[in-house]
Amino acid sequence: MKISRLLFLSTALSTAFLVACGDSSTSSTTTGDQTGTTEMSQSDVPASVSLTIEGNDQMRYSLDRLEAFEGQNVTLTLSHVGKLEKQAMGHNWVLLKPSTDMTNFANAAIAATDNDYLPADMADGIIAHTSMIGGGESTKVEFVAPAPGVYNFLCTFPGHSALMKGVFVSKAR
Ligand code: CO
Repeated sequence: MKISRLLFLSTALSTAFLVACGDSSTSSTTTGDQTGTTEMSQSDVPASVSLTIEGNDQMRYSLDRLEAFEGQNVTLTLSHVGKLEKQAMGHNWVLLKPSTDMTNFANAAIAATDNDYLPADMADGIIAHTSMIGGGESTKVEFVAPAPGVYNFLCTFPGHSALMKGVFVSKAR
């Protein structure tokens, strides 16, 4: 009896593990042109890709992960789907270089009140950024997906990066 119960448990655990793995490998959170590109070979990678992320009045992005292929021309649209004005619930989307510490950057941004919360002296730590917008507004930024790797993005409105942050994954071709 003991042995068969152990076998059952073992099987159940393996199944749970497989299910968990399956979930994580399919949790793509990108949108737009990129849908279905994971299996593409190098020559099939589109030259450009459009990505969309939303911000809301609850101080949240709609996604915590975005993906593109290295070298793709990315057009990222940030849509503020809330109603609060920029001064109260401003959102931007800022992609940082790997060498930029996100916490340091977010702390420095707090003082940059006259520059939409982008610290001018850390401008070279940014790969790309949108403008700061309020509820009902939309903005976009174009950039070339950097070398393969995982890059941090955040909203630099004071306090927001505690919740409004994620990773941009640049995939190798
Ligand atoms: Co924000």
